[in-house]
Order: sequence, then C-alpha cells, then structure tokens
Amino acid sequence: MFNLYYNAFKKELMNIVLIGYMGSGKSLIGSHLAKKIDYKFIDLDQYIEKNEACSISKIFEDSGDIYFRKIETKYLIKCLFENNNIVLSLGGGTPCYNDNLTHINSINNTSIYLKNNNVELSKRLYKSNNNRPLISAIKSEKKMIEFVSKHLFEREVYYNKANVTIDCYKKDTDAICDHIISNLN
Ligand code: S3P
Repeated sequence: MFNLYYNAFKKELMNIVLIGYMGSGKSLIGSHLAKKIDYKFIDLDQYIEKNEACSISKIFEDSGDIYFRKIETKYLIKCLFENNNIVLSLGGGTPCYNDNLTHINSINNTSIYLKNNNVELSKRLYKSNNNRPLISAIKSEKKMIEFVSKHLFEREVYYNKANVTIDCYKKDTDAICDHIISNLN
C-alpha cells in the first residue's frame, strides 16, 4: 500500500526535513524512513562533525554556541542545496536560529515536526544526556523536566511552522514512518 504513496511523491524532487526537540527520535526515525522510501539519509549533526572533524560537544566547548549556530546554518544550506531526495534530520535547535526556517520550508522541502511531550522527552534525555552540551550539566530528573518544559515551550513556536506535525507519543518507529509517508504528497 505504501508503494502507492511512494510512487506518487517520488516523481517530484523533494527533501524531507525532520525537526523536533532533542530526544524526539529524529535520527532513528530519519534513517528508518530513508530506507523505507529509498532516499539517502543525512543527519545534520553527524554531517557537521564529519566536515569539521570535531564532535558537537567539542565545538560548543572550544568555540561556543554562537559559532556552532553559524556553522549549523552553513551546513544546513549546503545539505539542502546540494541534495535532492534526501531525508535530513536536524538538530533540536536548527529551526530556531538565523533564517533556517526559511531554508527548511523552501519549495523543494517538506518539513515534518516529530512532536512528543515534555515528560517523555525529559525521561529519555535524563537517561542519555552525556553528549548533549545544552543539558549535560543537568543532574536530576526534576531539573530536566523543568528545563525541557520551558525550553520546549519556547521552541514550539518554530517547530509549529513545519508543514506536517506527527504526534509520536507512544508510537513505534515503523508506525511513525508510515504516518509520515501517508502525509507526503
Ligand atoms: C541541540 C541539539 C543537538 C545538537 C546540539 C544542539 C539543540 O541535536 O544539534 O547539541 O539546540 O537542541 P539533537 O536534537 O539531535 O540532540
């Protein structure tokens, strides 16, 4: 059945851009989705790390967040302009800085917001926050929920500008991908 949807959108050149808060599963869902629809997968954080030969944490540590946001925009534009038919997973902050949303929502792209709630995201992030510079200093689950709730509230203004929103709460990766595919046209 999904071949039908796939054939319908494959005729056109299109990049699928996944956005959402840290821990929303952008990378996992992105690579799974790309396999399912036979697109190339790019994870923007990994792309930055490869091109800069440096981890995201080290970039934040050595050069600061403003520098990171500058190169994040540069690599976002490079990825979008040099590729067609990719699934691109962004970092949680990518849509919220510079003019990134204009590029994300430009004509050949379909942006998808992978939505989840603050408590679920906080739980996931508390379990695995080590390599995320924005939250690596948070040492209790309560503080994580406080931080994520406020931060997500601020960022949803940007996430809500996506072309499609998928509610991911309590859905597995495969179901989320099928839901995304059924929203592509
Ligand atoms: C960030 C999210 C991270 C990474 C960087 C900043 C953010 O990506 O880009 O640490 O501002 O939310 P993930 O969303 O993949 O963790």
